[in-house]
Amino acid sequence: MFDLLAGLNPQQIEAVTAKPGPTLIIAGPGSGKTRVLTHRIAHLIQQGTPPFKIMAVTFTNKAAKEMRERVERLLSGELRGLTIGTFHSICARILRREAARLNVTHESSSKP
Ligand SMILES: Nc1ncnc2c1ncn2[C@@H]1O[C@H](COP(=O)(O)OP(=O)(O)O)[C@@H](O)[C@H]1O
Ligand SMILES: [Mg+2]
Repeated sequence: MFDLLAGLNPQQIEAVTAKPGPTLIIAGPGSGKTRVLTHRIAHLIQQGTPPFKIMAVTFTNKAAKEMRERVERLLSGELRGLTIGTFHSICARILRREAARLNVTHESSSKP
């Protein structure tokens, strides 16, 4: 099994292995935040959390794409059902999927 904690500094290891639940991480640009998030996702999956129970929400499409690529590189082929996207695209997807419950159609005139 790939050692996800190798290549992390002590603060990153603390963040990656923190118990499930709210964890606030504040760090400057380029200091390894995305590395923490991607390794935390991979660590959760490695520890047995099904990927479909994990949702990673970003602000930009660029960040979502980077996150997905980096998690894919860490865990080749174990990503089925993992949700990574911007909060706009994830919310639009949920609204379409649950449209019937809201008594609206699932069609949308604009793409997220
Ligand atoms: N503990 C570390 N040791 C060596 N390189 C690291 C470490 N943490 C992050 N990096 C590298 O530093 C760069 C910035 O990391 P990143 O996670 O993208 O930072 P942020 O999201 O905070 O901007 C990346 O190239 C990443 O691989
Ligand atoms: Mg980043």
